[in-house]
Amino acid sequence: MTSRRRFLSAAATTGLLAAGTRYEDLESRIARGDLKDTSKDDLPTPCMIVDLDIFEKNLQTMAAHCRTTGINLRGHVKVHKSPEIARRQLALGGIGVTCATVAECELMAHNGIRGVLLTRQPTSKNNIGRVIALAKHEPTFGTVVDDPLAADWLQEAAAHEGVKLRTAVDIYAGLTRHGIEPGEPALQLAKKVDTSKNLKLIGLMGYSGTASHTKTWSERKKKSLNDLSGLTETVAVARRIGLPVEIVTGGSTGTYNIDSESKTLTELQAGSFVFMDTIYRQIGGKTDPAVYSDFGPALTVMTTVISTRHPHQCTIDAGNKALLRPTDQVKGRPEIEVQNQGAEYGILAWKETDQGFKLGERVELYPSNLDMSTNVYDRYYIARGEKIVDVWPIMGRAGAAQR
Ligand SMILES: Cc1ncc(COP(=O)(O)O)c(C=O)c1O
Repeated sequence: MTSRRRFLSAAATTGLLAAGTRYEDLESRIARGDLKDTSKDDLPTPCMIVDLDIFEKNLQTMAAHCRTTGINLRGHVKVHKSPEIARRQLALGGIGVTCATVAECELMAHNGIRGVLLTRQPTSKNNIGRVIALAKHEPTFGTVVDDPLAADWLQEAAAHEGVKLRTAVDIYAGLTRHGIEPGEPALQLAKKVDTSKNLKLIGLMGYSGTASHTKTWSERKKKSLNDLSGLTETVAVARRIGLPVEIVTGGSTGTYNIDSESKTLTELQAGSFVFMDTIYRQIGGKTDPAVYSDFGPALTVMTTVISTRHPHQCTIDAGNKALLRPTDQVKGRPEIEVQNQGAEYGILAWKETDQGFKLGERVELYPSNLDMSTNVYDRYYIARGEKIVDVWPIMGRAGAAQR
């Protein structure tokens, strides 16, 4: 037998050929929107899988929390970059979305999402021009500023195009990345925005980004209240002197139930709760100090075992390019150690000889940092149990499209 014939007959016996044709089939099924009989086993790896039951429960938990406490949700999209997910949050009562970049704002607004807020002030000619274009396209779009100079630039650009740009003042809340000093400087900036003909002051922002991952709920509460104290005082004065404060925006997955208790914020920018990651799971919750279990782990990276030749370890097909990290965790096997090996390879290691994985076995990992991991995949495979029921693109995540 020629080696090609030998390969074909071996492949036929092991079912590999069937698997090969199914992959072609998968792409055309996705294009046709016909995923009947498609299961996780049909997918190329590494790939991202959303457990739809857990994901939907996370969205409902947050929506119910917002309804009962009276706080709004303007969920951050940087963790998922998916208009599908934004639409689902809005359908459950969300009042819009928050975005880290102008490109994310464009992606959302051009997919029909209203109430988009850019949480980083635009300061380049390119970004200011695009922000003004967005305001023209979608009047519910808004931005933040933390500097009077940026307010001047935006006023000038908005006047040139004859638009009124919704603008909130971004106040420092414990993260030395952005935010004007609370009190007089913030109030002066708010007055400047309010009196700028082409800017409409919509309120104040304070993102307490260092509180979000503070371990234990009581420590987190202490930190968050302390970080937001300047914002709280500034909001009170702004209202007293008659400045329009339609929104006070901030918050995160880690502080959602602290923010709703403290009543400074009118809306939450929480994003990670839709999927959760291993770092967030470790911060501890109000009722469960060991695991932050308010929201379930809905996102995994599925990989395939590609070699089992060495003791106490096996090799998987997810490596540095797939943003594998030692802090990732194997679903259902928390005792397994995850190690980086190379661009396209990772190692799963264990102590006992009988803890291994089989060649070709599918292994799902919980990622450590959603923002980073979702940015290197181009689609979510949506699963109910083992069945794939939908595919959602992850958009605006590479090169110029994400800037
Ligand atoms: C300004 C801002 N708001 C809200 C969030 C969302 O936080 P989380 O994903 O922790 O809920 C982030 C995330 O980094 C952020 O940068």
